[in-house]
Amino acid sequence: MKCWTSKTDTSSKQYLDNKDKYMELIEQLRQRQEIAMSGGPGRAKSIQRHLNRNKVLARDRIDLIVDSESPFLELSTLASWGQHNDEAPGAGIITGIGLIHEVPYMFIANDATVKGGSLLPISIKKHVRAQDIALEQNLGVIYLVDSGGAFLPLQDEIFPDKDHFGGSFYRQARMSAQGLPQISVVLGGCTAGGAYVPALSDEVIMVDGIGRIFLGGPPIVKAALGEIIDADELGGAALHTKVSGVSDYIAANEKAAYGKLREICETTNQRKIQDRQPWIQWASPEAPRYDPKEIYGIISADDRVGFDAREIIARLVDGSEYAEFKPDWGDSITCGWSKLWGHPIGIIANNGIIFSESAQKATHFIELCQQRKIPLLFLQNTTGYMVGSDAEASGIAKHGAKMVAAVANATVPKYTVLIGNSYGAGNYGMCGRGFNPRFLFAWPNSRIATMSADTAQTVLVDIRLAGMKGQQTTESEIEAIRSEIANQYETQSDPYYATSRLWDDGIIDPCDTRDALGLCLSLAAREDAPSDGHGLVYRM
Ligand code: COA
Repeated sequence: MKCWTSKTDTSSKQYLDNKDKYMELIEQLRQRQEIAMSGGPGRAKSIQRHLNRNKVLARDRIDLIVDSESPFLELSTLASWGQHNDEAPGAGIITGIGLIHEVPYMFIANDATVKGGSLLPISIKKHVRAQDIALEQNLGVIYLVDSGGAFLPLQDEIFPDKDHFGGSFYRQARMSAQGLPQISVVLGGCTAGGAYVPALSDEVIMVDGIGRIFLGGPPIVKAALGEIIDADELGGAALHTKVSGVSDYIAANEKAAYGKLREICETTNQRKIQDRQPWIQWASPEAPRYDPKEIYGIISADDRVGFDAREIIARLVDGSEYAEFKPDWGDSITCGWSKLWGHPIGIIANNGIIFSESAQKATHFIELCQQRKIPLLFLQNTTGYMVGSDAEASGIAKHGAKMVAAVANATVPKYTVLIGNSYGAGNYGMCGRGFNPRFLFAWPNSRIATMSADTAQTVLVDIRLAGMKGQQTTESEIEAIRSEIANQYETQSDPYYATSRLWDDGIIDPCDTRDALGLCLSLAAREDAPSDGHGLVYRM
């Protein structure tokens, strides 16, 4: 494979200006992640209370469990950002993938320093998303339970619907039946529905003095039965391990519990991270020849100005090698083959608006990757499919639909990174969230909406004015409508707005993208070969 020859002039003023602007975005990302992780000044008291009870903080718990050399791919760190008065950093739950004895597991850890670890609607969404990833990618799940259960003031948004609390127990039971270990360590409260997390687990460890499981806590028992009993007697580790049998092991402290957990994981008989299956033609990894940090200067500081996706690809893939498919046709999409951390990968990346030819080329390429069983990586940076009379006459609607259908039906592992704009149906054709990529990450410069704020102003002002037919409107009234629409679209297309609502699995630094995708591809490589799909390749 040939190495891509970069045309980026890293000494040009434009490159340096772009880089300065991007460094501000990176700084903002780091600050926000720091606030989400530490909770900011508002959470100092509850953190101190947690520590005073001799309890370990949720992220430190995971650190104590995973292998010393293990990466930890944390997901959706900024879930709930800007919502709930910023009182629920990370949605009060930490999810991510780490290794125990070289076997990857999904971790779901309640953060008891946020609303007592109780689950808001967005926390349930994050919990269920982690389970869906585990279910699809054959990962056992470790539950570090320390939770007040459903966040009661919002019970209607947590309890009854398909993907609410009940859905999480449904998934847990289904995963267990599929041979994916479900193991709980009880480190705090598990009340009412929360009791079913350990109760549905394959094996349970309770930590003496802090872990408690009961369907109704002491206040409910008193109110219902007039029985006065303390929490440990009612549902502590000794009762459940030595009397009820709800728990299998009692640990004197957290450290002992994690030692026991690691011992349990020696017996689970799961594939290790490096157990690559024969359908993957893996090669020794090679670093990109171009420095990934140069991505900062390649992405334009103005999101209306494009950049060549091949310059990005050259900074993500092994040896910067990229075998481009149909390089002389449909040039607003580039498709081609590379390796990433040694894994073969087919890349589809936007270079602007999607035209009919580009859509057909991408469809053809998806079929080739499906036939060859090569995972697909979508790098989104598009304002959508082309509009206008020429585009319609060229059949853009049917060519776009072919691409969308091919994406939906490809059974090879799919991954998506928003490296720029994700507008309109471009989001669908390029494997947006609705198309179930295994992971979807966003860069801090990305934007996601039905259309850009600029376009929305024009379209929506025209619609409003048409609806106000006959009424006199002054220039300043039109300007007010325009600015209201622009503000709404600016706010809602912001990547932090998106990540807060879990439209992605996290905002990541472009320089961390290669490592994150490398881990994701390793998970897929330990699976059996994807199903064939229809296996046909049509020339478009
Ligand atoms: N819903 C809403 N808020 C909850 C909550 C829940 N289920 N559980 C805890 N919280 C909140 C508390 O109101 C408090 O909020 P604040 O920080 O704004 O004051 C915060 O979480 C900490 O709770 P607190 O009771 O002070 O902490 P604790 O460490 O002493 O006890 C629990 C933690 C989880 C054992 C205890 O809060 C509890 O028993 N909660 C209720 C559990 C329950 O009955 N759940 C039913 C689920 S269906």
